[in-house]
Amino acid sequence: MSGSDPELLAMARWHLGPVTPLPRLDLPSHLQVLTTKNGQRYILKHHQAPDRFHAEFRAYSTWVPALKEHAPALIHADPDTLSLLLTAIPGQRATQLPEDSLAERRAHRDAGHVLRLLHQASPGPHTATDVPAYLAERMRWWAARAHLAALITSSDLRLLHSWADEMAAETLETTVCHLDYQPRNWIVRDAGQVGVVDFEHTRLDARIRDFARLEHRYWRRAQHLRTAFFDGYGRPLDSSEHQLLERFRLLEAVTALVRGHEADNAELLAHGRTLIASIHQPPQRTPMPMSATAHGLRESLPRRAVVTGAAGFIGSHLCQALLARGVTVIGVDRRDPSKHLSAAHNLADIRTHPNFVFATGDLRTCAIEPLLLDADVVFHLAGVPGVQPSWGADFDDYVASNISATQRLMHAVTRLRIPRLVVASSSSIYGAPDGDRPSTETDHPRPASPYAVTKLAEEQLCLAHAARSDCDTTVVALRYFTVYGPRQREDMFVQRLLDAASTGLTLQIYGDGKQRRDFTYVDDAINATIAAGTVYLSNSVINVGAGRTISLNDVVERAHRLTGQPINVRSTRARSGDVSVTCADVTSARRLLGWAPTTDLVTGMAAQLDWMASSRSPSPIAAEAV
Ligand code: NAD
Ligand code: UGA
Repeated sequence: MSGSDPELLAMARWHLGPVTPLPRLDLPSHLQVLTTKNGQRYILKHHQAPDRFHAEFRAYSTWVPALKEHAPALIHADPDTLSLLLTAIPGQRATQLPEDSLAERRAHRDAGHVLRLLHQASPGPHTATDVPAYLAERMRWWAARAHLAALITSSDLRLLHSWADEMAAETLETTVCHLDYQPRNWIVRDAGQVGVVDFEHTRLDARIRDFARLEHRYWRRAQHLRTAFFDGYGRPLDSSEHQLLERFRLLEAVTALVRGHEADNAELLAHGRTLIASIHQPPQRTPMPMSATAHGLRESLPRRAVVTGAAGFIGSHLCQALLARGVTVIGVDRRDPSKHLSAAHNLADIRTHPNFVFATGDLRTCAIEPLLLDADVVFHLAGVPGVQPSWGADFDDYVASNISATQRLMHAVTRLRIPRLVVASSSSIYGAPDGDRPSTETDHPRPASPYAVTKLAEEQLCLAHAARSDCDTTVVALRYFTVYGPRQREDMFVQRLLDAASTGLTLQIYGDGKQRRDFTYVDDAINATIAAGTVYLSNSVINVGAGRTISLNDVVERAHRLTGQPINVRSTRARSGDVSVTCADVTSARRLLGWAPTTDLVTGMAAQLDWMASSRSPSPIAAEAV
């Protein structure tokens, strides 16, 4: 019986009304596409083996509903004919997307998100003793088949058996898995969203197995896809999971060999041979292997990152996010958390993290090279921020910390040939806006304050080092637009506004409050920053903003609605250097970093309020501002 069998078609018509079979040469004969008069498409799938039919039926009735619109809907299942009638997901298979395209990267990210939904649909996560034993058994079975077909040597066989023995003693996290999870089963819709098909190998199994094929067949030659996938998945693998993934290389190797041989699939066979040849090599030392290109750039997360300004607002968030992704972080800051309360607050959550080392050091004077040894990337966020104080006596510190210290840092970074430096630049370098349109990176800079001048000098200094012919470091300068969120600096507007809402103290607005800002939520800024330290790029300048602008008066109104509290506002003299509007054109960030902001202002302010409520009493600076 095939998908076009008259009995199956009659069953489909009973459910759908008049449908016409659509010949599709690209599909195997057990799949038949049906179309209704109004163009709606369905798939009739006929299984040969009862166990596959039952596995797929079980998946549709228990776990697939958790994928919501990412999977076909099951209209009918017939155990007598072993057939399923499903809605069709329109789109193209992810294998047809152009290699290295943004669409391919997006598909991997969305596929990561979908797999996460599936894994979360488990009754677990839990460990099950029978899963390792079952996998060990499967391994021996595949190894025996491969040996019988003379695809592996006796010494390979012994190695595979010893792996199977180790496997049987392993503790594995068990979840519902789609064991055939790979791009050929991801359907990318026109809108870019991924749908997943082919649930016949879905069952409770070792979660890691879902990553093994992707890891060994796709990501090793395109590590940016792994990064995108785990961004979508929501959490990276930890180091023990990486080790496990290495072990599953053997299972992937031997199944690819046998399947490639049996199906006369030269590509699969070659893939199996490559993997089998590598099994005698010791497993990779690092969980996330770095693939250095001719330019020394990478596509995977760094192993070791240095963050300057680690005790600051943005720096502390960056450290935390990197640590959560399994990166070892060396944090440098001149503020000693044992002496500076806000530095201590900022570092409280990560202080004791085993992969975090904090070094107190002033970049104007300290020995920098020892801090950078073995780093894959340096995120340079240390600096003196804030527009207003730069007009005053602190100017020397702006120059020394933002410019001279950066020069010292760049000497060390380039001497040690650190592949990537990401530097925190600022929207302030644009100065007065050029008409109504958002600022783009090619706009002529017109810094309107001493602070902005130092930030422009800082980013250009880094780029000047990077442009030298003997420089192996790539520099990415990120122009952040007014970042807010938990732990925001106490001198900044949103923090003062929320303090005023919580305390009833008066908020001072400089000028008429009609000035507009592109407020960027800190998690969004961090995601862009990590991408800037990770993806293939040449020396670049990139805006990081929400891409929307709002007046201070409107923000006050939103905060009032959010908190339900009256907000006392007093207008006072406008401040020099305070530009009337900032708004980011984020086209480059989308294109180069595959990044987009996701948090709107009210959601971000709500998170900041939650943090304030949970972590500390209102800032005394709010009172000072009156
Ligand atoms: P922050 O003041 O909270 O953090 C900066 C950190 O750098 C501080 O902890 C400070 O101690 C440290 N630092 C300053 N000079 C140093 C030196 N000489 N040696 C070692 N450490 C030093 O500021 P933030 O808001 O987190 O800003 C971080 C970076 O981002 C700054 O470079 C700032 O100019 C830039 N930036 C911030 C925003 C924003 O909205 N917060 C916007 C655009 C750019
Ligand atoms: C912020 C950071 O402070 C700078 O370090 C950073 O470089 C800059 O963003 C940037 O995007 O590049 P700013 O936009 O001035 O600078 O951010 P806020 O300090 O939050 O001020 C936003 C607006 O609110 C400004 O117009 C400011 O004058 C006003 N404001 C601030 C008040 O009216 N009252 C206050 O109490 C504080």
